[in-house]
Amino acid sequence: MSWISNATVQLLILSSFNARESAFYGRVVRYLRLRWMFDAESLVRDSYNKYYDKVYKIRATEGVQVLIPPRLLGELKGLPEDVLSATEAVREAMLSKYTGFCPGNNGELLTTLIRTKLSSNFARLVPKLKDELDYILATELGDCEDWTPVKMQPFVLRVVARMTGCAFVGPAISRNEEWMDISVNYAVHVFLAAVKLQFFPEWLRPLMRRVLPDFRRIERDISRAKSMLQPIIEQRLRDIGSPEYEEEKPDDFIQWLLDSLPEEEKSGFQTQTELQLILSAAAIHTTTNLIAESVFDLAAHPEWQGTLRDEVMETLERDNGWEKKDGMARLQQMDSFIKEVQRLAGNITAFIRKVIKPIDLSDGTHLPEGTKLLTPLVGMSHDERLYPEPERFDALRFYRLRQRSAEDANRYQFTSTGDTNMNFGAGKHACPGRFFAANAIKMVLARFLLRYDIRLKDGKTRPEPMVIMMSKTPNPNGETKESIYGKLL
Ligand code: HEM
Repeated sequence: MSWISNATVQLLILSSFNARESAFYGRVVRYLRLRWMFDAESLVRDSYNKYYDKVYKIRATEGVQVLIPPRLLGELKGLPEDVLSATEAVREAMLSKYTGFCPGNNGELLTTLIRTKLSSNFARLVPKLKDELDYILATELGDCEDWTPVKMQPFVLRVVARMTGCAFVGPAISRNEEWMDISVNYAVHVFLAAVKLQFFPEWLRPLMRRVLPDFRRIERDISRAKSMLQPIIEQRLRDIGSPEYEEEKPDDFIQWLLDSLPEEEKSGFQTQTELQLILSAAAIHTTTNLIAESVFDLAAHPEWQGTLRDEVMETLERDNGWEKKDGMARLQQMDSFIKEVQRLAGNITAFIRKVIKPIDLSDGTHLPEGTKLLTPLVGMSHDERLYPEPERFDALRFYRLRQRSAEDANRYQFTSTGDTNMNFGAGKHACPGRFFAANAIKMVLARFLLRYDIRLKDGKTRPEPMVIMMSKTPNPNGETKESIYGKLL
């Protein structure tokens, strides 16, 4: 969920941990505020380069944040929740008290189901996800017999909403426009509600919660979603135990939840609805962003289209590799390509945490109770000590690293996490959905490459991600400014 919380963190660089506040503080803050609003990425990069392996402080609208360098991350990422909490940090950043955005006691269940049911044995989900993908490509992108401009981000959003819907709520509603609308927009409504409420002092927030329309939108999303999910859950509860049902049990998140919840909670329609919406919020925009950015890089570096297409032909098309257990894992060059896209277009910060009990780091830094932590992810991603020629898009950078040794083969996969590679966070709360995301992204790119050639409009450059405060998002305006063209092969 940190994509959404990252997006709400609004930073102002204050000072290094030991620097004295100067008399020009007010003017500096004003300058930095402007710079932050329009240039947060370079602000975090500059501060990372300046303080590099030191702990330093920044100020966000919701208070001071402490930036942790990679070398000290090892001391923090294994700490238990009652010492360093991800859940509390997200609750605060998302103002969950008001927005309701929090899986509560079911957070661990959500993670377990994503790991055990959604991610493991992905091959069994491939046929239905592939059908879903081909259906939407055929009906909404069509044949593109000549070069056709495509607004990539909105299109990919629909593709991902359909694919995740297929795995989360099943075919009864995954193609339903209303479900798609809710599953996509609930996250946006929560995000906007949290951002707007942050501008009000705590004492005014209960009132503003009633005034701001975003909160009514959140309530409406939940109630509409519940009215769609409840009949399905009720039907399944009635069917449980019947031989036909047990034989052909639905294979989706509704079912996995029903099978796992204790008896007395199986009729908790509200809770199950909220968990489904939180799941969609965590999955849809993150995955969409990376696919859209990947297509932009395919268009900007068309030389890679042939290489990746050959790999898809070799590993997936031949002998129906699609449904083989390690089908997607065999796409190692594509894996490297996506990781490189994420390195350059990924988040600005990561590892949002709150200190619950005081922590002393080996460099002498004392982190008192209540301290909020982040890591300067964008600084690491552009650090030439970690990535030679960091500004160059090198699609096979990670593929080559993987060839060095068995250890490196694991370390440089798209889904690998590490102290200098925080795009999926770290430790116990590292993104459990990254394996599903990796597979889904590869499927989408593979189908695109098999069907289409992709290029930028003549004279246009790659659409750069838009940075709004702390969040990065692909340019949604492809058609009018920088077009991506598709052409059927
Ligand atoms: C490219 C796509 C994705 C990216 C970049 C991404 C990124 C992240 C990040 C940075 C975190 C926070 C980790 C931390 O604080 O240590 C996170 C957490 C989470 N992600 Fe993802 N994610 C992606 C896709 C998904 C998908 C597809 C799902 C669901 C199927 C998902 C479910 C979750 C959940 C449930 C958490 C919270 C885990 C916890 O707090 O224990 N994510 N994600």
